[in-house]
This record gives sequence, structure tokens and C-alpha cells, in this order.
Amino acid sequence: MEIFADTASLEELKELLSMGVISGCTTNPKICAKEGVDFKTRMKEILHLVKGPVSIEVTTNDYDLMIKEAQEYSSWAKNSVVKVPMNANGLKAVKTLKEMGIKTNVTACMSAKQAVLPALAGADYVSIFWARIEDMGYSAKHVAEQSVKIFKDSNFMSKIILGSFRQVSQINDAIQTGADILTIQPQNIKDMIINPRTTETINEFLESWEEFKKKK
Ligand code: E4P
Repeated sequence: MEIFADTASLEELKELLSMGVISGCTTNPKICAKEGVDFKTRMKEILHLVKGPVSIEVTTNDYDLMIKEAQEYSSWAKNSVVKVPMNANGLKAVKTLKEMGIKTNVTACMSAKQAVLPALAGADYVSIFWARIEDMGYSAKHVAEQSVKIFKDSNFMSKIILGSFRQVSQINDAIQTGADILTIQPQNIKDMIINPRTTETINEFLESWEEFKKKK
């Protein structure tokens, strides 16, 4: 299992890389817009900083434009992965980009039946959106587990990325599904570190040590 950072913030990426916990990065137009900086410049900085796969999403639903943007993103660095929408044009783009040797990540899948399609079309990654599935009243855990099983049974080459987490309890469930990758916002990765009982225990040990030193 791997963790990717779901962010376009250089500062956050640097901090997470220094902890050694992330091996890739995912972005989307909303995440990039939040940064308020030049898109191309920032993506190139991220591609240089993160040695693993960096997903950069196309900004269109038009097939020809998707291919054009994909060619540009892939010319920036070897580790760029083109994120395309889960729709008919997105699937067509996956097929074409595979033939061109360009890696793809199909985004915003909400069910197992959707997730199998990009895998069949030849996507390198298939992204399933946990919280957004739960928003619709369905079990994201069930969708993720079903997808993991189908991909395994069918020997699909695509890796499953679970994303769209809003809280650590969702991540706790997602870790147990057997998915290849979880892409998580920096704050939620930091939340994973903390357990009040851990903090209390560490403080208890340090206090004992301080008392021991005073007595010496
Ligand atoms: C994953 O690749 C997406 O960027 C992300 O997780 C989107 O989810 P959200 O918009 O529901 O946070």
C-alpha cells in the first residue's frame, strides 16, 4: 500500500516528503486553482520535487483537447500521469494515450461497475472517490472492496487509488480494503499521526526522565 499527497502545495509536499510517507502526488483543477499560482510553473516544480507519479488533470471534457493537454503534461517530465475524467471521451483518451505511451489516471469513479471500464481501456490508475460516494448514501468501503476483488480476479494491471477523504475514520476503513494507493490531503495525513494516548504516553515517559534527572 502507498500514500500519495492530494495537494498542489509545495510547502506541504516538502514536509510530507521529509517524513518519508508519500510516494506520489495527485492534483485536480480545484486543488490547483486554490493555490492561485501559474499552473505550468507549479506543476513543473511538483514534478521535480516528487520523484514518484504526479497526476495532472486535463481541464476539458473535449477529446481532442484532452489529447493536446496530455501531450503537453507528459512533455514536462517522465513522472507525469495525465488525469482524465470518467466519461466516454475520457475512456477514448485513455486508449489513445496508452498507444502513445502516456500514463493515465481516470478520476471520479463512484462505483465498481464504472471502475472496471478504465481498467479495460488500459488506464494505469483508477481513482475512486470515498467521501463523494458516501455523500450519495452508499458504502464507499463496499465499492472499494468490490473493486479491489474484481481487479485482482481479472488480473487488471491498473492500480486503484482511493481519494476524496474528509476524516481519518474513512482512511482507517480505506487502508483495510487492499487498494494499492490512498491519496490524502496533507492535513489528514498529519491527523493520522496523532493519537491522544500516544501523546500522553510519550509525555509520561519524558516527565519520568526529567524527575529522574532532578534527583541525580
Ligand atoms: C483525487 O485524486 C482527488 O483529487 C480528490 O481526492 C478529490 O476529492 P474531493 O474533491 O472530494 O476532496
